[in-house]
Amino acid sequence: MDIDKLLEELEVEEKIALVSGSDQWHTTPVPRLNLPAIMLSDGPHGLRKQELSGDNLGLGESVPATCFPPAATSANSWDPELLFAMGQAIGAEARQQGVSVVLGPGVNIKRSPLCGRNFEYFSEDPYLAGQLATAWIKGVQSQGVGACLKHFAANNQEKWRMLNDSLVDERALREIYLAAFEQAVREAQPWTVMGAYNKVNGTYACEHKRLLETILREEWGFQGAVISDWGAVNDPSLSLEAGLDLEMPASHGVSAAKIRQDLKSGRLSEAALDKAVRRVLELVAKAQEAQAGQVQYPCDYDGHHLVARRVAAQSAVLLKNKGGLLPLGRGQKVAVLGEFARQPRYQGAGSSQVNPTRLETVLEELEKTGARFDFAPGYSLEDDVVDERLLDEACRLARRADVAVIFAGLPPRYESEGYDRAHLDLPPNHNALIARVAEVNPNVVVVLSAGAPVAMPWLDQVPAVLHTYLGGQAGAGAVVDLLWGKVNPSGKLAESYPLKLEDHPAAQFFASNRWQTEYRESIFVGYRYYDAAQKEVLFPFGHGLSYTQFTYDHLQLSATRLQDTDRLVVRCKVKNTGERSGAEVVQLYVAKIGSPLPRPPQELKGFAKVYLDPGEEREVEFILDERAFAYHNVEAGAWHVEAGAYEIRIGASSRDIRLAERVQVESSRPDLPVPDYRSSAPAYYNLHRQMFIPREDFAAVYGRPIPAPQPPDRFDENSTLEDLGATGLGRMILKVARRAIWKEMGRPRETDPQWLMTWAIMLEMPLRSVAALSGGRIPIHYVRGLIAWANGERGRALRHWFWGQ
Ligand code: BGC
Repeated sequence: MDIDKLLEELEVEEKIALVSGSDQWHTTPVPRLNLPAIMLSDGPHGLRKQELSGDNLGLGESVPATCFPPAATSANSWDPELLFAMGQAIGAEARQQGVSVVLGPGVNIKRSPLCGRNFEYFSEDPYLAGQLATAWIKGVQSQGVGACLKHFAANNQEKWRMLNDSLVDERALREIYLAAFEQAVREAQPWTVMGAYNKVNGTYACEHKRLLETILREEWGFQGAVISDWGAVNDPSLSLEAGLDLEMPASHGVSAAKIRQDLKSGRLSEAALDKAVRRVLELVAKAQEAQAGQVQYPCDYDGHHLVARRVAAQSAVLLKNKGGLLPLGRGQKVAVLGEFARQPRYQGAGSSQVNPTRLETVLEELEKTGARFDFAPGYSLEDDVVDERLLDEACRLARRADVAVIFAGLPPRYESEGYDRAHLDLPPNHNALIARVAEVNPNVVVVLSAGAPVAMPWLDQVPAVLHTYLGGQAGAGAVVDLLWGKVNPSGKLAESYPLKLEDHPAAQFFASNRWQTEYRESIFVGYRYYDAAQKEVLFPFGHGLSYTQFTYDHLQLSATRLQDTDRLVVRCKVKNTGERSGAEVVQLYVAKIGSPLPRPPQELKGFAKVYLDPGEEREVEFILDERAFAYHNVEAGAWHVEAGAYEIRIGASSRDIRLAERVQVESSRPDLPVPDYRSSAPAYYNLHRQMFIPREDFAAVYGRPIPAPQPPDRFDENSTLEDLGATGLGRMILKVARRAIWKEMGRPRETDPQWLMTWAIMLEMPLRSVAALSGGRIPIHYVRGLIAWANGERGRALRHWFWGQ
């Protein structure tokens, strides 16, 4: 494709059309110039290609595709090769379905365990998230299909996700929230990046020139196109000027009209439009060429099911195994309890929801193995009510069994795109089942299904807990293999489990108001905080047990003194001293000893998954570069290595360090002052004494006064349906809309997860996005009329409604 020539031949109207989707999933074709459209589809753990309908909430039908375990699960594998294999399979399915770009992976950091969409994200740690995303992207793109790295950036909550302003200090942005994006862009060069819905420090992510041009393109060398999240564009001209290339989905003429007008008035330059058009053309060309050129990996759905099973098996985390209750023996009589054994919870709701090619259940998989077991559901998935009859039945079976295996966790309505969780608790009927059964049989194994940390009030009463997260379509087979020891658990937690909700560092500053969210904890996210605060946790980052044991030995550093531009080679030996084959995830943390800067006590900078037979020993090697020691110096606007002593720690988890050695690092910029906040922001140095970060301390690291929220005094296109509820007309519309959507969705129950998600998103959606996200069914002049009416401008409202102005 000759892009220069095409650019010359395109008319302005065609260019305007090209920077917007033509429908929910396609770019705009230009038949006159033989320019085809390409298709984009979700998502991160399997393809969600919609043929007939089009929605960004996973409501309508999509073609069957392999449903792999979501990122929250696969992250626990700590296995980039596995992520590559999964990406390869998703890429092959996309290619077979004629999809050119898969909308994933999501590398947003789990700032809070409450974010409803955490199941779609990898970790609280950017290094781990970046490594896994890189492998996934390489896998997808090896198939001639592009990936879309999302949601760029600082998109860490679902509540008010389309309008909220994430106030993040520059260092936290660089070290925590951008780092995984940076790694994936530098190492895997995804074809596209998705601009997030939210604002970042006052500017919409899709209008953020510094993020999209300066950082993403100029600093990191991103070569591809930036696409908006679905309905994220606030002002198309500002977006184009800022470096966004493609608005998705179709805005049904709304953006085109604005762009046209702004071109005329000079508010938008033709150069900015051309730049975006060029990148869209490059994307289309890349898709065409890649499909012709790439080596094809066979699109074998049976094979992909097995890959999904492998991912699930490698990602389950054995949290507890007192007395070696697991693995179960062949002859043991087992009571299988919990509705999840019959109806698995295997993925989350929303845009990533895949229509699986098949779905295993534990009961069916157990039948296949010939194991001796009885089953009782123990609870209903319809509600949270503790049902004594179901509990009695479960206890009756548990009394007669050698072991009770309880399948419990979060039902779909508990975690979803579109809304956050309010607490960490399991439903009362799940907790009751575990507590009651533990009273009648001491040999209880709890198998958890949930996409995020949960509280475990019964933990002391049960000897074994296997956390499968969300296992994907082949999760049940994997769990049976793990329980009976055909596969040895090797997953490690990619996030910390707090003892209680109030312990997590963002607890007081998570989704606290509609306008802005202060990221007051700064860089102290996840284990970085728990370690600094010296807080006990339920399970630490990196934790996971095995049916065998590993010893660590012979830590060797290639140098004891080092220039920061040199590489440090770290080697250690790991031995399987138990009786079963198994895999260990060896983790490397770097700790700066003493600093004027508030630094996390240690940070993950390397990991390796090693498979070892009984008695086998292997040497593991890590190579640390400058970045492994660096912090982001906000005053210099650069990464900087502080001179001094660092400890290299090797561990089986962040709280199970087995080996440590020190290295002295020389800085190539020894004169660069290390920012010191000891007097301006003492709270960050005292996290072990005080949890609360005062506003002044945050302002000091933020580098400027914290802006006050500025709610407009009139309704506008960024008002939401919920805002309009303050007016009589708004209330009426809310009522009518609620009923119409509910009817259209087939009159779901109040607790139906899709209903809960849809309504939450409807309420909080800015009115400007209604036309795009309703697929053009609600034209913008209706919306504008409504806004005018709500502002008391009746005449104007009527003009919008009746003359479509
Ligand atoms: C989600 C994206 C998704 C898009 C398309 C949005 O609501 O935030 O992650 O890719 O819809 O379905």
